[in-house]
Amino acid sequence: MTMPGATFQYEQIAVRASGAVGAEVCEVDLSKLTDAMVAELHRARGDHGVLFFRDQVLSEADHIAVAERFGTINVNRFFTAVDGFPQIAEVRKEAEQTANIGGGWHTDHSYDEIPAMGSILYAREVPEVGGDTLFASMYAAYDSLSEGMRSMLCSLNAVHSSRHVFGARAERPAELSARLGNQAAATQDAVHPMVIRHPVSGRPALYVNPGFTLRIEGWTPAESAPVLAFLYAHASRPEHTYRFHWMPGSVAFWDNRATWHYAVNDYHGERRLMHRITLEGDALSAAVPGGGAPSRAVHAVGG
Ligand code: SIN
Repeated sequence: MTMPGATFQYEQIAVRASGAVGAEVCEVDLSKLTDAMVAELHRARGDHGVLFFRDQVLSEADHIAVAERFGTINVNRFFTAVDGFPQIAEVRKEAEQTANIGGGWHTDHSYDEIPAMGSILYAREVPEVGGDTLFASMYAAYDSLSEGMRSMLCSLNAVHSSRHVFGARAERPAELSARLGNQAAATQDAVHPMVIRHPVSGRPALYVNPGFTLRIEGWTPAESAPVLAFLYAHASRPEHTYRFHWMPGSVAFWDNRATWHYAVNDYHGERRLMHRITLEGDALSAAVPGGGAPSRAVHAVGG
């Protein structure tokens, strides 16, 4: 199989890289995957951080069947599910709403001791213009830091939480509260190495994010803030990112350990309806032996 552009050839599939992050997989029908293709797509997702597919025709049952080829489904504890399909989280914004879900840089589930591996997001209804999703490469973010900064970060851990986003005291627009629930479950924090070794590719990846990281372990919030602010500005530089434009039937399959994502909220007056299935991940380890301590859960007080 040959494709134009920066093509990476595997045995069963060929993917065209999108730049620092992401690759489009062509001529693959997700409902007709062989075991060999699943293994290669798994490897390609580890290499490129996110895989894009076009023109997929998937019922809810098909979407679940595709996800199950790649791992165990994580039933989201905060998002509203699609009626009759608890495995599928609904990411919906109606024409009259102004707030969206995911409208800021984040990586999903970093507040869990074993964060979800990634998600398979399927576009059902999208605006013709706008509603894109940005992705950023945490491989590129790490690789482009100085040796001094890399070495410091490799010895540190960071504390992540869901409480300020999904908890009872989280500040968010009322229209988003209607789409999220189960606030009582947002009580657990987690500590992870700031630079992880990616479980599939083996590459070092920066593992902090503006959505869920609270502070560097053993540092005060005030001490942590300038370092985290530097890392967030650095990681989201345009050369580390890619902007994906959705069409009905598009799929993005991203890896939370190698990327961040950001749902752009620029389509007021139009409806956008996406179905998301999230897959369980692996225990994370530090990028270098003796680096940040292994991940652990922390039970926060007061939810
Ligand atoms: C999300 O953050 O999971 C939503 C991404 C999107 O809607 O593009």
